[in-house]
Amino acid sequence: MSTSKSNKIIITIDGWSSCGKSTLARQLARKLGYVYIDSGAMYRAITLYFLRNHIDWTNKKLVEKALNDIELEFIFNEKLDQSEMFLNGENVEYVIRDMVVAEKVSEIAAIKEVRDFAVAQQRKMGKARGIVMDGRDIGTVVFPKAELKIFMTADNAIRVERRFKELFEKNPNITLEEVQNNLEMRDYIDSNREVSPLRKAKDALVLDNSNITPEEQLKKAMNWVKEIESGKSKVESRK
Ligand code: CDP
Repeated sequence: MSTSKSNKIIITIDGWSSCGKSTLARQLARKLGYVYIDSGAMYRAITLYFLRNHIDWTNKKLVEKALNDIELEFIFNEKLDQSEMFLNGENVEYVIRDMVVAEKVSEIAAIKEVRDFAVAQQRKMGKARGIVMDGRDIGTVVFPKAELKIFMTADNAIRVERRFKELFEKNPNITLEEVQNNLEMRDYIDSNREVSPLRKAKDALVLDNSNITPEEQLKKAMNWVKEIESGKSKVESRK
């Protein structure tokens, strides 16, 4: 489908850990010629910096100082046909997926200063529109006026199994229990934190992908995009 510059929209995808948000975001971005932005990668990169530099993140002053020294950038890798996260010039796309980072990321993403820092950059990236951004607060806080907001869910066991497969490929020592505990802990912190907790935006459309194929989920989301492009109002398209 072709979309002219003028009618490019913003698509937000929020939801629980490991329920397929990034897969759908990538699919949509490719299909529409949009830019995919993985907001979770930014929180993961900040966490990596804090861990490597032994930053005491309970100290607001030290957090502010550390954030001043952090430069985040997404750089497109032509070979992989996807963007990668760079932290102060270093490609950290692979290392930020590590369990060591996953264990701390939700604690760090709950800090107000960290969120302000990341959200300001995310909003800048949306200026040109034509983006698909996934995360926890994208439809509620970062782009509350986005034309299409999707809230993704999937059964717990399926989410654990999916993430386990991904991580096991990198680290055969990982256990299913470890992955399950991590997802449960992150979902708990993400949905109970004070600042920008994970919530379904009132006008978000729910997509449960427990029992549908990636092709089916793309078709469903593309139908929503078409409805919006054809000029139906948000409210109409949600009936
Ligand atoms: O891939 P997965 O869904 O497991 O997580 P992610 O998108 O890589 O995000 C990692 C963590 O960053 C989440 O568990 C949240 O704690 C935090 N995050 C957030 O607070 N707000 C966002 N917009 C995106 C991620």
